[in-house]
This record gives sequence, C-alpha cells and structure tokens, in this order.
Amino acid sequence: MRVLVTGGAGFIGSHLCDFLLARGCEVVCMDNLLTGSTDNIAHISDPRFLFVKHDVTNYIVVGGPLDYVLHFASPASPIDYLELPIQTLKVGALGTHKALGLAKERRAKFLLASTSEVYGDPLVHPQREDYWGNVNPVGPRGSATAPRPARSPTCPTWWRASGPSCRPRSTSRSTSETRGR
Ligand SMILES: NC(=O)c1ccc[n+]([C@@H]2O[C@H](COP(=O)([O-])OP(=O)(O)OC[C@H]3O[C@@H](n4cnc5c(N)ncnc54)[C@H](O)[C@@H]3O)[C@@H](O)[C@H]2O)c1
Repeated sequence: MRVLVTGGAGFIGSHLCDFLLARGCEVVCMDNLLTGSTDNIAHISDPRFLFVKHDVTNYIVVGGPLDYVLHFASPASPIDYLELPIQTLKVGALGTHKALGLAKERRAKFLLASTSEVYGDPLVHPQREDYWGNVNPVGPRGSATAPRPARSPTCPTWWRASGPSCRPRSTSRSTSETRGR
C-alpha cells in the first residue's frame, strides 16, 4: 500500500506517517513547511519513506502508484488562520482541488481532514452530520470555514461531477472520503 500524506510534516501528519510505516505502508510525505517542520519527521530513516517539499496549491507530481491520498495540509489553529488567511484559503480550495485531481488520476482513495470551523459558531451541540452550522464566511476566520470543509463546494462538486463511484463518507464530523475514478 502506497500513501501520500499532504501536511505530513505537521502535528497530525507526522504521527500519521509513523502509523502508516508501522502498518507496512510506503509513505510519500508532502509539505511546504508553512506551519510544520522537518523536525517532526527527522526521526524517520526508513527506505519506504519519502519527503517531498512542495506546496500542494500547485500541480502535484508523485511518481509511482498511489492507493491513498490523505489530505492534511492546512494551517490548523485559529491563530494560524488569522496570521495566514490567504495561504489557508488557497490550500483549502486549490490544494484540495489538486489533491483530488491526483487521487482521481490514480484511482486512489481520498481523505480530507476538515475542521470543526465548518460549523462556525454552532447553535447546536453536539453538531450532527446534517447540521449546516452557523457560519460567517466573510468574518476573520472565513478563510478556514469557507473553502475546506467537506460540505464546502470543492469536495461535493467533485462527488457530483464524478458519478456514483465517488462519494462522501463521514467517519467523523471533520473527515470525508471518496474514491477517485
Ligand atoms: N490538530 C487538531 O486538533 C485538528 C482537529 C481537527 C482537524 N484538524 C485538521 O488536521 C489537519 C492537520 O492539522 P495539524 O494540527 O497537524 O496542523 P499542522 O499545522 O501541524 O500541520 C499542517 C501541515 O500542513 C502543511 N501545509 C500547509 N499548507 C500547505 C501547502 N500549501 N502545501 C503543503 N503543505 C502545507 C504545514 O506546513 C503543516 O506541516 C489540518 O487540516 C487541521 O485543520 C486538526
């Protein structure tokens, strides 16, 4: 099994790389080091591990087969959203689009790590899958709420455009999966 982890040098991504390697996978870790660091992956000296420094808002090239694309690249904290609004917006929209394109080309399963920001300032607790949230897309945290969540235009548009083999699957409130075709 060969897996691409975008945002692989970040907090969650680097642990995911460890987990996948321990499960016997080959891992391509892609990150532009915007909020992550190679310190997080410095302990990995495994021939099945490849680090590629790349901004996923640009066309993504990965040689060889891919079974999964796990898209974790994005600034993740409210502080980062406020300091890096353009980068957050771009990676949520363009980065997700590029990662979906790669998954589709390779017929790989795609998983998007979204964010609880999808619910904005929720009026319902706990939030259910069918709750649309209480979102202010033009507010200061709109760069995080607007483009990235599974309910935002990018993933649902792909699902609708790609037919029945491509579908959302929520495994938690912030994660969606699809298979490219
Ligand atoms: N940490 C949490 O509690 C939490 C909760 C829910 C969802 N998430 C989501 O999980 C994902 C990872 O979160 P994290 O806490 O590991 O954040 P993090 O900031 O530690 O990691 C994100 C990584 O993405 C990289 N990145 C950002 N923009 C990029 C780009 N354009 N191209 C390539 N790499 C890019 C950063 O350099 C960083 O290494 C985020 O999408 C976040 O919103 C995190």
